[in-house]
Amino acid sequence: MTIFGTRPEAIKMAPIILEMKNNLDEFQPITVLTGQHKEMLDQVMDIFHIEADYNLHVMKAQQTLSSITTTVINKLDSIINEAQPDIILVHGDTTTTFAAAVSAFYHQIPLGHVEAGLRTWDKYSPYPEEMNRQMTDILSDVYFAPTELSKENLLKQNLKEDRIYITGNTAIDALKQTVDRNYHHSVLDDIDKTHKIILLTMHRRENQGEPMRRTFETIKNEVLNRKDIEVVYPVHLSPAVQSVAHSVFDGVNRVHLIEPLDVVDFHNMAARSHFIMTDSGGVQEEAPSLGKPVLVLREATERPEGVDAGTLKLVGTDPEKISASIDQLLDDAKEYKKMATAKNPYGDGTASKQILDAIKEVFATNKLSGDHNEA
Ligand code: UD1
Ligand code: UDP
Repeated sequence: MTIFGTRPEAIKMAPIILEMKNNLDEFQPITVLTGQHKEMLDQVMDIFHIEADYNLHVMKAQQTLSSITTTVINKLDSIINEAQPDIILVHGDTTTTFAAAVSAFYHQIPLGHVEAGLRTWDKYSPYPEEMNRQMTDILSDVYFAPTELSKENLLKQNLKEDRIYITGNTAIDALKQTVDRNYHHSVLDDIDKTHKIILLTMHRRENQGEPMRRTFETIKNEVLNRKDIEVVYPVHLSPAVQSVAHSVFDGVNRVHLIEPLDVVDFHNMAARSHFIMTDSGGVQEEAPSLGKPVLVLREATERPEGVDAGTLKLVGTDPEKISASIDQLLDDAKEYKKMATAKNPYGDGTASKQILDAIKEVFATNKLSGDHNEA
């Protein structure tokens, strides 16, 4: 049983579900959506042609962490009781992930964590994701760590080494299916071919409010000062993001505020861009595969592999740092090339197959036997 509820979880869980569907003699996939996101989740399900077996429909406007957590846990009870899965898989670090992990534990169903072991070791950055993943890892029985470093992080918390599999990240599996050289999107029609495209996304809770506003103001000033750049910004549907984005950027020439792109569009737009500015987690993993530099609008990242590889540069939300970094990427060809040619540290796009192989091994070798106390 896979349980997920937001856009990034769906994008990175989809390759695993599709791989199970190709192996129905060995796996019986049960897909459960919490519906923490709605439109942005539906987009992904449509693109990958995946249908949910259950949908908890939890999304409310301006939902709180407590309401998501409690509703998901309450609503999962009857589904897990009815379906009795052999293993539950969750992905990443959202509140859906954490709540589903608690549910799996309450029902004493083995839990596998996809994208396990990412850490900043800073409780409030990113918030609440850092603690969502730490708590999920504590509750998990099997770990699918994308890199060696994420495995080391799990070992620092004394989690069992023989349950940790290094698989790469399923984001790269998804990318293999989406990027198309002949891609076209209507927003590109409005853009002068000689201009450089900067792709922007920003949504994190800890950036909402003043940090987001000053970041957008800085980007707006850059666009006003430099006539050869255009910003394409698919705005996250969160009202906290929509309000700031529109109040700063509405009416600014060469800033294109558009609806969230479906993942095929987004990957292709990223591939067409000169560079990316984002506080997204998933985008930091995808960019090295696309050969695109990323200015990370955060103070800390749980994806240091991309910083070490040279693709990511942490700039936070300080206006001077953001401005200087944009100028550097536009004016310093050597620095641009260095960031654009880094090696992707997140695997070769076979993570979903490796995850399913690991699950088969866990069951074939009875690795989890002895874990259970009868309730
Ligand atoms: C959530 C995750 C975050 C992840 C992000 C990916 C938590 C606490 N946060 O943040 O880790 O990086 O998803 O995008 O789990 N909304 C819609 N339609 C949608 C989606 C959202 O209208 O399809 C609006 C709703 O008003 C909702 C609000 O956005 O209340 C915020 O959604 P929420 O899931 O609480 O937070 P995100 O910022 O999306
Ligand atoms: N993405 C998308 N459409 C967009 C913006 C992002 O499909 O308009 C994809 C992106 O390629 C990546 C994922 O969404 O795979 C990242 O999701 P998000 O930034 O919402 O969440 P995070 O990764 O920060 O948790």
